[in-house]
Amino acid sequence: MTRYQQLATLLAERIEQGLYQSGERLPSVRSLSSEHGVSISTVQQAYHVLEDRQLISPQPRSGYYVTPRKAVPPLPRLTRPARWPVEVKQWSEVLELINSRHSECTPGFFSGAPDLTQSTVKPLWREMGRLSQHQAAEMLGYDQIQGTRILREQIARLLLDSNCVVNPEDIVITNGCHEALSIAIRAVCEPGDIVAVESPSFHGTMQMLRGYGLKVVEIPTDSATGMSLEALELVLEQWPIKAIFLVPNCNNPQGFIMPDARKKAVLNLAKRYDIAIIEDDVYGELAYEYPRPMAIKSLDVGDCVLLCGSFSKTLAPGLRIGWIVPGRYLDRVLHMKYIGTGSTPVFTQRAIAGFIREGHYHRHLRRMRQYYQRNLEHFTCRVRQYFPCGICVSRPQGGFLLWVELPESIDVARFNRLLREENIYVANGSLFSASGKYSHCMRLNYALPLDPAAEAVLRKVGEIAEQALENT
Ligand SMILES: Cc1ncc(COP(=O)(O)O)c(C=O)c1O
Repeated sequence: MTRYQQLATLLAERIEQGLYQSGERLPSVRSLSSEHGVSISTVQQAYHVLEDRQLISPQPRSGYYVTPRKAVPPLPRLTRPARWPVEVKQWSEVLELINSRHSECTPGFFSGAPDLTQSTVKPLWREMGRLSQHQAAEMLGYDQIQGTRILREQIARLLLDSNCVVNPEDIVITNGCHEALSIAIRAVCEPGDIVAVESPSFHGTMQMLRGYGLKVVEIPTDSATGMSLEALELVLEQWPIKAIFLVPNCNNPQGFIMPDARKKAVLNLAKRYDIAIIEDDVYGELAYEYPRPMAIKSLDVGDCVLLCGSFSKTLAPGLRIGWIVPGRYLDRVLHMKYIGTGSTPVFTQRAIAGFIREGHYHRHLRRMRQYYQRNLEHFTCRVRQYFPCGICVSRPQGGFLLWVELPESIDVARFNRLLREENIYVANGSLFSASGKYSHCMRLNYALPLDPAAEAVLRKVGEIAEQALENT
């Protein structure tokens, strides 16, 4: 360790032990230099290290002061990705993340799965039992390509909550939101095309874009308000963008809800440049505010928005039921569905339709919104307690995913190798960037409450982050 690192560690320890208290002025550079027999620039470097870690902050013409230790961590800053087309990488890392679902790793901080243990899901099992007893043969047949009509009717009703007025004929049922997004891409784009995505952005969509031979331009994104429209406009002027991908409500991974005015503005941009918006609303119904936020699709008179959603996050991912409202792309979407999967299982569609019709879905949603919001409060409180100073943490407005930005010197991939020895794993931020940015960030899942075992794991993650910081 160099001399300035040694000095920074010593001062950090003194702050930790309360020898220098929150808000207190630290010794001047000159006095520390003579006290420790080191040069002025060594002390200055040590102070810069502590400043980067947000342990101390400078005051003009006064010196350095200890930053209040338990202050609420700031929000992640506006991201700054490269603004030119890149090919998506990282398939092997994404595969590792997906495989972790079935590994020994506990708890599921790394995953994108909801809590499946709530009693409000039980009526779904009853509905399945009833269908298998009384309509077994019907459940085993082929479905119509567009999906079971009674489920499309229920989805059309649900969509009213996001201000979308659509008919069952405007909806195509898919195998989860994953298939909806994959169909949307193929309906709108050709290999070699370029699309714009939020940065960071859901890794699943980016792997599909890679698979279909598309390039992406990552657009700077604010952790509170979403994609920067100023940056998007510059990119639209510069590159022949075919579509804009957005998760505007309860975004994965940052949890923001794009304000209504910005939703209108992004739609206006898409109209001006005559391109499609692929809107992923898979978390929209889990917004903590009620009524839930509107979808961009609800403003779309020109039919250029393809709205995608599913019951995976609100109810259960294993059902594999989603939908797409494709606007003017309906015919292409039906063709893409036909050449992909042909049809969707009737059984799960009918069970979900019954569950919604009997009022169980709304009851379940009400419970889950409150439950995830409570989990978030507890979780962020513990992250603040166990993680080092100098982190930025998102403030999700819905869903169950938290984005944590560590100091840039930390590499979460290295960090994960240490965690693996303890059977712990976190989602590396670099999976959410086409160009491998955000390797110092992680996404954490707070769908399950922090029981003592999960809390011990979170504390361990915080300790390893602290050690990683000390070793940089
Ligand atoms: C933003 C986003 N879109 C789509 C999906 C895929 O959803 P589904 O499980 O319904 O295919 C996920 C799942 O993690 C997601 O986070």
